[in-house]
Amino acid sequence: MNPRDATSKILQAVDDSGNHYRHSIPMIASENILSPLVRRACDSDLHGRYAEGLPGKRYYQGCDDFDTIEEIGIETARRVFDCNFANIQSTSGTVSNIAALKALSKPGDTITAVSTADGGHISHARMGAVGVRGLNLVTYPWDEERMEPDIDASLSLIRDNEPNLVLFGQSVFLFPTPLRELSDAAHEVGSRVMYDGAHVLGLIAGGVFQDPLREGADVMTGSSHKTFPGPQGGFLLSDSEDATLHKRLNNSIFPGACSSYHLHHVAGKAVALAEFEQFGEDYASDIVKNAKALGAALSSEGFDVIAEERGYTESHQVLTRHGGPDSGSGMRAAQTLEDCGIITNMNMLPGDTKAMSGPSGLRLGVPELTRVGMGVDEMQDVARFFARALINKEEPSIVKSEVSTFKSDFQTVRYCFEEGPAYPGI
Ligand SMILES: Cc1ncc(COP(=O)(O)O)c(C=O)c1O
Repeated sequence: MNPRDATSKILQAVDDSGNHYRHSIPMIASENILSPLVRRACDSDLHGRYAEGLPGKRYYQGCDDFDTIEEIGIETARRVFDCNFANIQSTSGTVSNIAALKALSKPGDTITAVSTADGGHISHARMGAVGVRGLNLVTYPWDEERMEPDIDASLSLIRDNEPNLVLFGQSVFLFPTPLRELSDAAHEVGSRVMYDGAHVLGLIAGGVFQDPLREGADVMTGSSHKTFPGPQGGFLLSDSEDATLHKRLNNSIFPGACSSYHLHHVAGKAVALAEFEQFGEDYASDIVKNAKALGAALSSEGFDVIAEERGYTESHQVLTRHGGPDSGSGMRAAQTLEDCGIITNMNMLPGDTKAMSGPSGLRLGVPELTRVGMGVDEMQDVARFFARALINKEEPSIVKSEVSTFKSDFQTVRYCFEEGPAYPGI
């Protein structure tokens, strides 16, 4: 393909992708959309600029305006997350984790974390950041009923292993971690506590999940684009007053993990923080209401929804089971739903052992649906579409066309200063 044709084809696919989501029901739990003002900051001249260092202490000239942006962003982040220290430079949740691991551990140290099979993130595993830092990983015993670390067994594990760093947080995250007890045990053995809030950061800042920095976490990391509805990027947060720790955290992002840290995204993050300060509590509480309503509605339609006895969820996620362990039924369900215009991802559930082909579950998220104005009534409609696709096995093209009609009423980004098109430019 010649370069001109390649360019046209790429740009056509860019538009097609936006169009696809515009007509679909997007339910990937880690995704969100940008407000018009955040989009404006991201699509700016800052895209091509550099500003290594911190506001007022740069390695390059020309950073005065960006200093203003980053200073306001840091101050807003400290208010939104109610903490003494915020670094808003990280380019992703994974980069935040790499940086926190660099600041809080040294190669050869022992770390405890949730295993990927139980919902931990790949950056908590040997194949990811934990391995890159050369740490010795010990994973928590898991309570499959409660979908959280088995408290008594994890307390023993921490006391027996005396790790240098104790890490909590998951990618599959239905319920708050019983953090207070576990971090007390960690501190007793001289360990630092790190909480990865990538998925639930918006819920934490909105006051509807848990408050890790008050429950014993020394450092909290997270993504800026999941339940926190900003551009792709990350945060490093701490309520410690220890200036040495602050310096280590700042240095672990630059020069530790980033050189350029994508200034346009930092500007977008700063705007998203200001919008969150105004609208975040409502957004977070609507997300959790919707997730609970979705769990109940799917259950009424006949689906096997995980954690029924705990009310299905306290977060933005719902998990469904579609067959026996390692049956691949989650993969097939996700494919059928996509044919019907509903975007989800397969997920391992307790009992599954094969991450790529075997998962029997789906992980469903409602941050984007909430952001475009869907409420608990619409969660019933969404569950009905699931039943038509997966239980009644209706012709996918018919369901897809009705999904598109349903979605046409939800095309505006909400919870922001200037509401506007959710899927612009198409
Ligand atoms: C718990 C957890 N930590 C870290 C990450 C990585 O975040 P990012 O995709 O921003 O690198 C994820 C991603 O989903 C996650 O679930």
